[in-house]
Amino acid sequence: MSLPARAPVRDDLLGVEPYGAPQLDVRVRLNINETPEPPPAVFMERLADRVRDLALHRYPDRRAWNLRAALGQRVGLPPERVWAANGSNEVLLQLFTAYGGPGRRLLLTRPGYSAHPLIARVAVTDSVHVDLDADLRLSAQAAADAVERLDPDVVCLASPNNPTGIPFALDVVRAVHDAGRALVVVDEAYVEFAADAAEGGDPVPAISAVNLLDELPRLVVCRTFSKAFRMAGVRLGYCYTHDWVVDDLRKVRLPYHLDAMTQAAGLVACELAAEVTDHIGRTVCERERVRGALTALDLHVWPSAANFLLFRPDIGGVFQGLLDRGVLIRDFTTAPGLDGCLRVSVGTPTENDAFLDALQEVLQ
Ligand SMILES: Cc1ncc(COP(=O)(O)O)c(C=O)c1O
Repeated sequence: MSLPARAPVRDDLLGVEPYGAPQLDVRVRLNINETPEPPPAVFMERLADRVRDLALHRYPDRRAWNLRAALGQRVGLPPERVWAANGSNEVLLQLFTAYGGPGRRLLLTRPGYSAHPLIARVAVTDSVHVDLDADLRLSAQAAADAVERLDPDVVCLASPNNPTGIPFALDVVRAVHDAGRALVVVDEAYVEFAADAAEGGDPVPAISAVNLLDELPRLVVCRTFSKAFRMAGVRLGYCYTHDWVVDDLRKVRLPYHLDAMTQAAGLVACELAAEVTDHIGRTVCERERVRGALTALDLHVWPSAANFLLFRPDIGGVFQGLLDRGVLIRDFTTAPGLDGCLRVSVGTPTENDAFLDALQEVLQ
């Protein structure tokens, strides 16, 4: 009997393509919503000092207690109500693993963040969708109807949504929570770019679901250091929630999942939050400048509370035309509910000018 040369992959992974936006070596990269300015020197210097003193021969603090305490302090919550992991993607994976799983359902919006259903699949959780309206918004009534109809175990809303940039009203979060029994996860990867947060990097802007944590007992609010905190290369995300959720997440996390260097980087970022996030005002200004320029080109652009803009050119081929000119943005032209749409991240003024110049050429 000849033995097989390969072991069969799980049935639901057959034919699956690994997820990832292209990482191309081009002149201007505006496709994955990073902050274009690196962290300030004061952050890098303090981090280097801390890393020098780390006892790397020891395992890290398994509970990441000091980091969770510092994160909690930012919004007035104790460390027992804070959890951290390697990027908010890992926080989401842990949430879907703990509260989803075989036979359970996750409700997402369509359009929404494209990694949500992929993370759910890794956690062997089925995804179901509620479609946004033609203006890419969702009313509290439509949200509640979807929860009643589909009876999900977990609901996940990105707010501001990606790729639309539009936040969900707190009424929508409340309606989703109160219409069913699900754990409600609000993914606030971009919340620091909301208008009222821009000044001074307010950790609890008015649109944040953190404002609902005391009211809604099954609520989780996910955040990340990858966007406004300029640390996409570090891989650190976290959530604010209730202590019973943190207890459950501890059951599915890997031992010592959050390494000592990542914990140190997070702590330093909390200490220097004002300096690390001082670009937000500039980013928001640039976002509005680019939005104005796209509108002046007669393109449909949605208002954005994030560090990117969704727009719809009247003609095809714009994504490739920009790429031919060394400008990489994100192509959503064939995504459900986003017919013909493109998304551009806000870059430096020079990068944004390069994008706008190339776009003008392509549209001519
Ligand atoms: C809505 C949303 N959530 C989460 C993430 C992932 O963030 P992280 O780098 O913390 O895993 C992204 C990244 O683009 C995102 O757009």
